[in-house]
Amino acid sequence: MTEKRTVTTIPVTSPQGDYDVTIGRDIYSGIPDALADDVQKVLIVHPPAMGARAAALRESLADRYQVLLAEVPDAENAKRVEVAAFCWQILGQADFARSDAIIGFGGGAITDLAGFVAATWLRGVSLIQLPTSVLGMVDASVGGKTGINTNEGKNLVGVFHAPTAVFADLEVLDTLPRNEILTGFAEIVKAGFIYYPEILDIIESDVAAATDPTTPEFRRVIELSIDMKARVVGEDFREAGLREILNYGHTLGHAIEHAERYQWRHGAAVAVGMMFAAELSRLAGRLGDDAVDRTRRILDSLDLPTEYPVGRWNTLLATMQRDKKTRSGMLRFIVLDDIGKPSVLTAPETALLFAAYQEIGS
Ligand code: GLY
Repeated sequence: MTEKRTVTTIPVTSPQGDYDVTIGRDIYSGIPDALADDVQKVLIVHPPAMGARAAALRESLADRYQVLLAEVPDAENAKRVEVAAFCWQILGQADFARSDAIIGFGGGAITDLAGFVAATWLRGVSLIQLPTSVLGMVDASVGGKTGINTNEGKNLVGVFHAPTAVFADLEVLDTLPRNEILTGFAEIVKAGFIYYPEILDIIESDVAAATDPTTPEFRRVIELSIDMKARVVGEDFREAGLREILNYGHTLGHAIEHAERYQWRHGAAVAVGMMFAAELSRLAGRLGDDAVDRTRRILDSLDLPTEYPVGRWNTLLATMQRDKKTRSGMLRFIVLDDIGKPSVLTAPETALLFAAYQEIGS
């Protein structure tokens, strides 16, 4: 991390080209410098809630580029093939060239969609991600995973396509409802449990300060989380090994999102998934009671859920068995050997999984 005044830059290495994540306030003026000299057209993909900001961004870029806007549905409703086709139509009608660029301007679902459109248009155009949610900043926009959902599951169609730059402008979080900030914290808590325990200490010492976008504590947990993601994806872009640790809490979390027809926020499902993964780690003999209690306490302090109905187990198990992360038909879970020490649990007995699930059953 390098810090210059109020701007922090975190470099990310990628086989498709290295890029920077810039963190600060009022930083979108740096976008033209991140675009290649031959870019003529820019498509900004944004949800309705970002309409006014997207129009202002268009205005600020209009003297140098022909700027198009694609307003797409909010949240997971954006991650549908029909929505990607709507964006492809705009690109086709505008004669969008391979040298042009797409900007993803929204939360994690929007940056996933914009990345997918950028990866697939003319076999790949450049992409700048402007995440506007906590989750988008610390997870979705960094690392080049792009994708859409199908009826069978989440992110089943996708491409690795690294951005050329990411700008995490903390100012856009100032007006977000508090529960939006808190659900994004699930990914920050994950970064604390798998990599940077300092994050957990900051949340525990003052949860109000840690979750207020205007404080140094908030900025620190965002920077640490992005730094963790940058280091992990820098080492393992295509998830051949280390990157799998980022799935902590996600195997059950994705199954819950699917069971809830994507009406639950991703962070809420991941929170339950992390509670499950902590209990599974404990029952597998790897993690102590203290770390499991700490997981519950921290998630409770953030008003994140830690329970799910016991009766839903069979449905969740069936979805997890279909999850793309199963290898050779075997379920794999990221568990903790200790805080900051994730590892893989392969093909656990169904009885062990159910026992862990009963610990979080309501
Ligand atoms: N969101 C998990 C990853 O980027 O690998």
